[in-house]
Amino acid sequence: MIRRMAMNPIPQFPDGFLWGVSTSAHQIEGAADAREPSVWDAFTAEPGRIKDGSTAAVACDHYHRYGEDVALLAGLGVDAYRFSVSWPRVLSQGGLDFYDRLVDEVCAAGVRPVPTLFHWDLPAGLDWLERDTAHRFAEYVSVVVDRLGDRVKKWITVNEPAEHTLLGHALGTHAPGRQLMFDALPAAHHQLLAHGLAVQALRAAGARDIGIANSHGPTWPASREPADLEAAAFYDVLLNRLFADPLLLGEYPEGLGELMPGDVASDLKVIAEPLDFYGINYYAPTRVGAPQGTEIEFGGVRIPAELPFTVRQIENVPVTDFGWPVVPEGLTELLTGFKERYGDRLPPVVITENGCSYPGIDDQDRIAYLDGHLRALHRAVEAGVDVRGYFVWSLLDNFEWAEGYERRFGLVHVDFSDPGVLKRTPKASYAWLREVLRDQR
Ligand code: NOJ
Repeated sequence: MIRRMAMNPIPQFPDGFLWGVSTSAHQIEGAADAREPSVWDAFTAEPGRIKDGSTAAVACDHYHRYGEDVALLAGLGVDAYRFSVSWPRVLSQGGLDFYDRLVDEVCAAGVRPVPTLFHWDLPAGLDWLERDTAHRFAEYVSVVVDRLGDRVKKWITVNEPAEHTLLGHALGTHAPGRQLMFDALPAAHHQLLAHGLAVQALRAAGARDIGIANSHGPTWPASREPADLEAAAFYDVLLNRLFADPLLLGEYPEGLGELMPGDVASDLKVIAEPLDFYGINYYAPTRVGAPQGTEIEFGGVRIPAELPFTVRQIENVPVTDFGWPVVPEGLTELLTGFKERYGDRLPPVVITENGCSYPGIDDQDRIAYLDGHLRALHRAVEAGVDVRGYFVWSLLDNFEWAEGYERRFGLVHVDFSDPGVLKRTPKASYAWLREVLRDQR
């Protein structure tokens, strides 16, 4: 595999390009008894919510084993580590001490810490349907930046508000498990407002390198039929423009602003606070067609729902073991499309997540996926998109939300069958990426 790379190396990315890996608190930390509960704890406790019936109470036990994990980061040779700060942990006595230690350890390893301040583990009792949650978030962010801001220079406010709204509040397959369909829109608005207020709080504390991590992907219509085109355009609005437009243009796509709560015009000014970078999590494009019946499928689960679209299969491409299509050129298309739509309003882009779920330690499929996506990313750079970094999801196999531990996204295998040991084994993709990074220096 390394020989193949030597023959056909990944093209050189621009100087100063930031290479990293990502994780999130709830998915790896464990030590649930050393933090306040989050909405995910209550959701996980409900029978049938998590496919393998597991919980994140221990997960990778990163809370206790972070030294070993930081050594894995250092061994990989990344420039940066994107992790998330658990708001429920910060609320508990001494909770911030953990991030203090982690940041020290990461810095000592010569790696830049890049915390995300909200990655779905909302403290129990808080609710994104309430506007006040946005203000509570900004208060929490002030506490974190006061403590870590001397060493942390790059910040990410919130992660994938689109998925947290759609899966958590509209369809109910993620915490907090609500099935509000379009009545979930206020949860999106309040997360965006929380983001804007957090940007203000971070800047007030002296931070100068701030972004968000949004999931985006191209939407491909099932056909050129008007009904399919219309359905695809609608899906594109919900997944892409509903989040990117207010952040980058200061407005909601047509008709959606009226569905949002509060003084939307003045909130949009906060939401559109200028960003230093725009983080994109990319996994795959989505093929979308006109509605077919009253069920939709998401992540293998059929949900009774009347939506103005259906998600169709993308034919003739490989799929990961999650069933997600592998389409590297979708990343080039996404980025060049963003540049076209947002022009000068688009800050430098960082790919804050990209990765795939496959079993096994000799994970040649993951190598092929990452190899393809890095080449696709490079094509976007050649086409003039200002891309400044790339983070693989994920360093470790971890708690993949409603999927439990069955989906493995890690460059490092974790043996969950022995919770006392949780042995880490670097996969073939870890060795491959280390060589790619060496070549890029
Ligand atoms: C996006 C989310 O940010 C992350 O938490 C999740 O594990 C990956 N995608 C894979 O589904």
